[in-house]
Amino acid sequence: MQITPSILNADFARLGEEVERIPSADWIHVDVMDNHFVPNLTFGPTMVEALARSTVIPLDAHLMIEDADRHAPAYVEAGCASVTFHVEAAKAPVRLAREIRKAGGRASMALKPATPIEPYEDLLPELDMLLLMTVEPGFGGQSFLDLCLPKIRRARAMLDKHGIETWLQVDGGVSLETIERCAEAGADTFVAGSAVYSADDPDAMVRALREAAETARA
Ligand code: DX5
Ligand code: ZN
Repeated sequence: MQITPSILNADFARLGEEVERIPSADWIHVDVMDNHFVPNLTFGPTMVEALARSTVIPLDAHLMIEDADRHAPAYVEAGCASVTFHVEAAKAPVRLAREIRKAGGRASMALKPATPIEPYEDLLPELDMLLLMTVEPGFGGQSFLDLCLPKIRRARAMLDKHGIETWLQVDGGVSLETIERCAEAGADTFVAGSAVYSADDPDAMVRALREAAETARA
């Protein structure tokens, strides 16, 4: 059970300090948005590289960008240990996953809430992580979509059936209210943005989220 806080709702003028507030995080989730794939704009590889240099916690890049095939490998070079591209934005997801792995990163693929998992079953062994969005990507602070839970269960069943180690991440609206549902459905890696950074003690929230997920899974 891993907690990967998103810095989308952190103070962008003090990102280094914001990351220091969450030493219990397993990963730092960095939401890269290009204002085309989603209607919001954040940062690119230069800023991600600076952040990677400022922390020992590994970075988990979530690319909400068009033309993922062309840009994703640059995020491994920028120092991200895991790089997630959206299948809706990738022309050749198998080739791209292999390129990310070849560059030394963990390869991960994301699906928006309306994208079905079934067409990608045979592709799962190419991935180190599968990200199932539980909100429409683009903004932090949205409400968790319960309609995504059946897809999480189906994805868990597929991964178990194939006996592969691919992590199953959920992203969007994850909080103490919703994390148990995700863990029960079979997720093992949890992104939480506003839940962590709106808490009085963000690091205590990271630990509370992990504990809730572990209890629900057990
Ligand atoms: C949304 C991003 C998420 C976002 C999560 O498009 O991919 O990572 O930061 O924020 P919360 O946890 O507030 O939904
Ligand atoms: Zn994200």
